Amino acid sequence: MTDDERLARVARGWDEAADGYEEYFVPRFAPWVKAAVDAIGDVPEGPVLVPCCGTFPELDLLAERFPDRAIAGIDLSAGMVRRARERAARLNLPGVEVVQGDASTLDPRWSESCAAVVSVFGLQQLPDPETAVRSWLDALRPGGQLCVVFWPETTEEAGPFALVASLVGERGDFSWEDRLAAVLGEVERDELVSYPMTHEGGASYFDAANHSGSMRALALARGDDFIARLRQQFLAQAPAGEWTHHPRARLIVVRKPLSRAEAAPPTS
Ligand SMILES: C[S@@+](CC[C@H](N)C(=O)[O-])C[C@H]1O[C@@H](n2cnc3c(N)ncnc32)[C@H](O)[C@@H]1O
Repeated sequence: MTDDERLARVARGWDEAADGYEEYFVPRFAPWVKAAVDAIGDVPEGPVLVPCCGTFPELDLLAERFPDRAIAGIDLSAGMVRRARERAARLNLPGVEVVQGDASTLDPRWSESCAAVVSVFGLQQLPDPETAVRSWLDALRPGGQLCVVFWPETTEEAGPFALVASLVGERGDFSWEDRLAAVLGEVERDELVSYPMTHEGGASYFDAANHSGSMRALALARGDDFIARLRQQFLAQAPAGEWTHHPRARLIVVRKPLSRAEAAPPTS
């Protein structure tokens, strides 16, 4: 399969998931979105960029925090972009745009222009996260901040995420996580952030992940029979009744260094 075909499958997975994602996952992921936006400190002039914005839950908080700035979301999936544009229209903000495209390598028009780049739960899906982070840092002005939240290789020891991971057996190559430090330079924060998440039961979680979450791409790749077997195995091990777990995401905050001249202006 070529890179373009792989990207097309990811996009199709999120197209199919978009409506359900907004209903099921956006409220459950809200504390991590808030943590990412709250992590932005004082930043220079310029727009705020949101790669992998999905239905753009970051927008409500960003618009409150930066009412006079341009805010741009970028997402690969047409279905997600449609929902994101609906959100922007509801909020009726003149400076908001949503662009459909691959956020791995940003359009050069953003280079050195942005006050902040904020991305939640997109990085771990990209084929080359190091290249993406390089491109996101390049978009920042000196003094601007990158705030990124992503699911690391291990999100929990017990819980539905861990159970699916153990049954599927491979989560892909996460060796890029260790190599991020070299790309990021000096980091302000690098920590695991955990919040409780509750599902009505094992079946509701599995069906939401399959129809409205990241499992959609797996379903497209492996087919309905594979997913039906996975569901059976999952439910055999899931606890009965309501299920609360505490997955951990990784939050990284980096401030782009000021140029030497800006950091120490001449005093006379
Ligand atoms: C789990 S959703 C997160 C959406 C939103 N940031 C949130 O926190 O709810 C991941 C999003 O990443 C997008 N995505 C995946 N690969 C992408 C790529 N190469 N370029 C842009 N967006 C991508 C998907 O379409 C999906 O909308």
